[in-house]
Formats: sequence, C-alpha cells, structure tokens
Amino acid sequence: MSASLATVAYIGAIILFIMSLGGLSNPETARRGNFLGMAGMALAVVATVLGPRVTAAGIPYIVGALVVGGGIGVIAAKKVQMTQMPELVALMHSLVGLAACLVGFASYVDTSTVFPTPVEKTIHEVEIYVGILIGAVTFSGSIIAFGKLSGKIGGKPLLLPGRHLLNLVGLLVVVYFGYVFLQSHDVNAGMWPLLVMTVIALLFGIHMVMAIGGADMPVVVSMLNSYSGWAAAATGFMLSNDLLIVTGALVGSSGAILSYIMCRAMNRNFISVIAGGFGGGAPAPAAAGGTAQPQGEVVPVSAVETAELLKEAKSVVIVPGYGMAVAQAQHTVFEITKLLRDRGVNIRFGIHPVAGRMPGHMNVLLAEAKVPYDIVLEMDEINDDFPATDVTMVIGANDIVNPAAQDDPTSPIAGMPVLEVWKAKTSIVMKRSMASGYAGVDNPLFYKDNNRMLFGDAKKMLDEVLTALRA
Ligand code: TAP
Repeated sequence: MSASLATVAYIGAIILFIMSLGGLSNPETARRGNFLGMAGMALAVVATVLGPRVTAAGIPYIVGALVVGGGIGVIAAKKVQMTQMPELVALMHSLVGLAACLVGFASYVDTSTVFPTPVEKTIHEVEIYVGILIGAVTFSGSIIAFGKLSGKIGGKPLLLPGRHLLNLVGLLVVVYFGYVFLQSHDVNAGMWPLLVMTVIALLFGIHMVMAIGGADMPVVVSMLNSYSGWAAAATGFMLSNDLLIVTGALVGSSGAILSYIMCRAMNRNFISVIAGGFGGGAPAPAAAGGTAQPQGEVVPVSAVETAELLKEAKSVVIVPGYGMAVAQAQHTVFEITKLLRDRGVNIRFGIHPVAGRMPGHMNVLLAEAKVPYDIVLEMDEINDDFPATDVTMVIGANDIVNPAAQDDPTSPIAGMPVLEVWKAKTSIVMKRSMASGYAGVDNPLFYKDNNRMLFGDAKKMLDEVLTALRA
C-alpha cells in the first residue's frame, strides 16, 4: 500500500472513530457507535500492516501478535462478568501504559534514525521522556486501580505523611533528570536518567491511586482512561504516526470530559479526587456489603405485599443499582414494567450517573432487557417527581439513594447528589441484607416510616412479585 493510500485510510479511520464516539453518547445509537469503532480499528490495523513502514519480513510477527493478543482478548471478553468490566478496563489501560514505555525505550535505543537538525533530535528525546513518564504512571496506577476494584487491595486511602510534598519532590526530580537526559550525548549516558525517571513515575502512579479511597474509584478509572489516551498520543509522536496521535487525543480528551462529568455527579472536585484521601470508610469494593452497623428498626415486606402496593399505585419509579446487575434481574424488571404499563400505571426509571460499577451500567442492562428508552430518565429529570410518586422500587441500590448525602455533613458521601426516593408515598428497598453499599456507609432511608424492606436476591424476589401481580 502506498503512503498516500495509507494516509487516506487513516483519515477514514479517524472519521469512523469520531462517529463512533458520537454514537456511544446515546443508548439508542450506542450499538452503531461500537460497530463504527470496530470498523475504524480494523481499517487502521490493515492500513498500518500493509502500509509503507512495515516490511514483508515483519508481517509474520505482526500476524502472530494479532492472533495471540486477539485470542486473549476474546477469552477475556467472554469470561468477564458485566460487573467486572471496570477491572478489565483498568487492566487494559495498564497495557496501553506499558506499550508507551516499551515503545519509548525501543525508540531511544534505536539509533538508526538520522535527524536533520539537533533541534529535531531534542524534540524526539522530549517525546520519549514524556511518553515514558505518562506511560509508567498509567501502567502502575492502572494495576493498583485493578487491585482496588477487584477487592485484592483494600479500598481505604493510603495517606503517607507529607504526601503532597513527596509528590512535589518527585516532580522536581523528574524535571531534573529530564534535563540530564537531554544533555546526554549517547544512549548509555541517557539510559540511567531515563530509568530513574521511570522508577519514580511507577512509584508516583502507585502512590497516586493508593491515596484515593474506594468511593472515588469510578473517577480514577475514567481518569486513567484519559491518561492511557495521552500515553497512546505520546507513542504516536515517538513513532511519527498521525493516526495514533489523533486517536490518543480523542481517548485522552473524552476520558477527561467523562472524569469531569462523574466528579460533578458525585459532587467532587477533580483536584481533590487526585489529591486523594476521600472515601476513608470504604470497604474493599468488590466485597460490597461493608462494615457500617445498622442504626434503627426496619419494616420488612413480602413479595405479595409489594405486588399489592404496586397494584394500587398510579405512578411508580424504579431505581436500579449494582444489586440488579449482580442478580441479573433486568429481564424480570422489564416483565413487571410491561405488565404495569399495560394496566395504565405511569412507570418510569430513575438512573443515577454512578449507579452500578461503570458509567452507563444501568442503561446497558435496561436496554438489553428492551425497556423503552423514553421511560428511562436521568437523576436530574426525575428527582422533582418523587413527591408525586406512589411507589418507588429501589432494586439493589444503596449509596445512590442515601439521604445522609444531603443530611449528614460528616458522612463520607456528604454532598453527593442522590435520588430522593424517600419523598414518594412509599419506598420499597430490595436487597439481601442490611449490608452497606460500595461506600461502606449505613443508609438512613431503610429506617424511614414510609420505607419497606424486601429482603432477598433481587431476581428471586422480583419473580415472586411478578407471579403475585399476575395472580
Ligand atoms: P451500592 O451502593 O454498591 O449498593 C448495592 C446494593 O445492592 C448493596 O447494598 C447490596 O446489598 C445489594 N445487592 C447486591 N447483590 C444483590 C442481589 N443479588 N440482590 C439484591 N440486592 C443485591 O450500589 P449503587 O447504589 O448502585 O451505587 C453505586 C456505588 O458504586 C456508588 O458508591 C458509586 O460511587 C460506586 N461506583 C460506581 C461506579 C460507576 S462509574 N457507576 C464505579 C465504581 C464504583 P446486600 O448485600 O444487602 O444485598
């Protein structure tokens, strides 16, 4: 393939990536967005492999790597549970970071490129230094994020004494070694400042994510997503590959925007998330069902009583959370929704921006179960409607409906916007026990006079509710 044809293919791939991002912004077009992204990536890979910079001798290696990497990807995607997706994503970000580091070192030891001017050589070395720096932070940070999300590392933030000073000193040392690196006249002399910087960057990535509490992990994952984009862009600069630069910038900027949106949804300040220390009470996330002690009396109800309340209701709001995903109850939720809608009940869904364990988690599950999009509303769209609602059904959600976020300034989730389900005539919370949610805090909603608890696995209980509704 000629260079100009490869460039045309790259432009086509870039357009497909942009259209893919546009498609992914709406549940109705998300599937198409995914296909466009896959088509763009296929085009990019083919144009690169057949392009002018790959020799025939290199093709078997690339095909071998594609088969091995693709095979691992297929197995991982098939095996991973929907609720483990953030862990998988964190692991994938670590690979992007690792790739940026390896490409950086390979470009540095490859002395075959002749630079026409010393300035161009310096620019290339700056690209290598910055690329390895971002790559190493992304790599180690993502590994720690994986550990925290999978519950292998505790959710509590690690707060070293003088940690901000430590970070600042690390930054100054990195700048100093950057200067030493650029002054080096050969690869041997430049290698040690590069290695020292890499070690500091790896430690910085570990320290940064270790200092962040479990409750802030969603923001960290999207922030690392953004870093992985910038790491890919840096790799693009090192390899003079325009497509990688543009794609990296797309991922980097969209990850940054997502982090900002999530910070707003959790009423957190981006800088304070990065500075760490929040979410001290958080348990190991995957082992949700934390430590907070119940403080009050609750009123349990049965599935039959729940069905009675639903039969009498004219307006119902369903608030799904992580437990609905665990129980895979979305199809039964759809059946109940259909039945109540057929009976003339105004039934809608209230979706919190960080419900579940990844952005859009609930939307994906409800779309899979074929719940119509027009009755699935965002938190801001539905919050004012709760006082006029007869029954709210909270299915496996906890933190996102916790009134302590509004009423208790000392709560670890104070200030986080929540769905005000307690303002409805009756709220029913469906969960297996009195265990706390991801943030590890007790929920005063459970003890409110107008609240009822339907204890049990969400799928099992909803099946019983459905049977009672049909009876
Ligand atoms: P959580 O606060 O984690 O509460 C989920 C509840 O579901 C638990 O209290 C659990 O209680 C219940 N549950 C678990 N399995 C169940 C089952 N099989 N049947 C019925 N109930 C079950 O979830 P949420 O309200 O969706 O809030 C999300 C939390 O995760 C927030 O704190 C958020 O910051 C965090 N987070 C979000 C994301 C994103 S991006 N969405 C990513 C990482 C973390 P029992 O054990 O008693 O059943």
